[in-house]
Amino acid sequence: MLNIRKERTKEPKMKPDYSNLGFGRYFTDHMFLMNYNKDLGWYDPRIVPYAPLSLDPSCMVFHYAQEMFEGLKAYYTPDGKIQLFRPDKNAERMQNTNERLCIPQISKEDFIQAISETVMFDKDWIPKEIGTSLYIRPFIIATDPQLGVHPSKTYIFCIILSPVAAYYAEGINPVKIFIERDYVRAVKGGTGFAKVGGNYASSLKGQEKAEKYGYSQVLWLDGIERKYIDEVGAMNVFFVIGDEVVTPSLADGSILPGVTRASCIELLRSKGYKVTERKLSVEELYAAYDRGELKEAFGTGTAAVISPIGSLDDENKKAVINDGKIGPISQMLYDTLTGIQWGVIPDPFGWTRVIG
Ligand code: COI
Repeated sequence: MLNIRKERTKEPKMKPDYSNLGFGRYFTDHMFLMNYNKDLGWYDPRIVPYAPLSLDPSCMVFHYAQEMFEGLKAYYTPDGKIQLFRPDKNAERMQNTNERLCIPQISKEDFIQAISETVMFDKDWIPKEIGTSLYIRPFIIATDPQLGVHPSKTYIFCIILSPVAAYYAEGINPVKIFIERDYVRAVKGGTGFAKVGGNYASSLKGQEKAEKYGYSQVLWLDGIERKYIDEVGAMNVFFVIGDEVVTPSLADGSILPGVTRASCIELLRSKGYKVTERKLSVEELYAAYDRGELKEAFGTGTAAVISPIGSLDDENKKAVINDGKIGPISQMLYDTLTGIQWGVIPDPFGWTRVIG
């Protein structure tokens, strides 16, 4: 259990226009900080006024990217409660990422306590408008001021909060996806399963290319055979083929184990859908499309929730899915998940955690 010291800002900021939030543009009045060194372990947990961090330019994070992050959201329910969605899943993934990046562990309980107390300290920043929430961004950076390549001995754990609306400008409207054949985001044995900034840095080039051709996002293929589907944009991906819902399996470790991904699988199975986690090649997908069996495709993620895919194009082939409209399964998943998250429908899974 952390004993968190708290200092309230003397200069609260103006709140943004909650009807035009976008994603990740505004930050609340406070942030959580905690330091690590070898002697003290994690020490001095504190909530302080939001401010720039002052770091030595030689800090290891700037050079070798020893850093991790998480993403989750807090919601205001119509009866005035504040809740998180499956923070235990983020805590579990945080530990798996730390393990991969040689970052000292934080207990799941301390991680969730730090998030909950920081959200409650800035609770007047949680937006109430339909489709909005408070995005929570915990991250850890390596701060040893030296240039040798080895795990840092000092770290900062920070949590910042951002009132947000939809992640993609398209919102729940279907997006156009381009299949990326040259660049990959992760490979087996690498850090694909971990939530590290480097994975996102290596995705930028493909994303830039897709945007140049008029697409919103990239469909990432496996890094070895360049044949099997991994992810879409910064999300996990699902396809409805005949009566089967298929999502790439996590077995190779190149795919992020998304909380929304896991929730969609559980939700679909609870409603009697056949969900398969397996390898899926572009070839198989296009063959299903040609037979008229590719009914829906969608990305899943905390930031975007469900992002339907309206078309999936390669250099030589274009596949318009469900006439470019949102399909019934995507709509059901979006309505059910956001309904549970915003507390407007019951949560039979026990996924929500009321913190205030
Ligand atoms: C999330 O969905 O929370 C993510 O971390 C993706 C990020 C690119 C916003």
